[in-house]
Amino acid sequence: MAHGRKFWNRHAARYAKSPVADEGSYQQKLRVTREYLDADMEVLEFGCGTGSTALVHAPFVKHIHAFDISSRMIEIARAKLEASNVMNVDFDAVAIEDLHVPDRSLDAVLGLNILNLLVDRDAAIAKVWAMLKPGGVFVSSTVCLGETMKFFKLVGPVGEFFGLLPPIRIFTSQQLITSLSDGGFVIEHQWQPAKDKAIFVVARKPEA
Ligand SMILES: C[S@@+](CC[C@H](N)C(=O)[O-])C[C@H]1O[C@@H](n2cnc3c(N)ncnc32)[C@H](O)[C@@H]1O
Repeated sequence: MAHGRKFWNRHAARYAKSPVADEGSYQQKLRVTREYLDADMEVLEFGCGTGSTALVHAPFVKHIHAFDISSRMIEIARAKLEASNVMNVDFDAVAIEDLHVPDRSLDAVLGLNILNLLVDRDAAIAKVWAMLKPGGVFVSSTVCLGETMKFFKLVGPVGEFFGLLPPIRIFTSQQLITSLSDGGFVIEHQWQPAKDKAIFVVARKPEA
């Protein structure tokens, strides 16, 4: 079951206004992602937030279907889409847990700053695996608090209980890599700008 919808709806407007925390790393991640994209690709993004990244990548692929659990985030994303001249992106308010996408139908899946916010990351990784065609790529960027903020394991659930925080799961970057590898992915690119920064990973579903 999906958690955090209320939290993200409440914070969507503020999230939309806040600047990217580390613009240099963001641009680097966009550049690397671009190396894996092609004009004939069907792409899905989950946890797309207000849609900025999908709109940036849109000119380089055939189509992007981007989803977010928060209808407020999606309203903002749709307004950005309308104000742009991008024609090949759709935004819909659906949680990853409720997504139904045909198996082996996608060339690339993006999950940016989202895997640590899911109650069951392994289930999400298995879903991504199923959606991807053999040879497809899963691009993720994930804050792994397991190395730097272990105490959050105690504080987080209290904040979540009172609706002050979304669900936040604490794991190390190595645990994330293990989840992806155990899920059948081959890690092709791995970059963590600093110990307290999100780890960026491009993982490939091997050809059959
Ligand atoms: C930290 S924001 C990241 C947004 C965007 N990917 C980015 O990098 O700016 C996390 C986003 O994930 C969404 N989210 C949280 N749980 C989700 C779920 N179970 N399924 C889909 N989206 C979810 C939130 O609504 C929020 O927009």
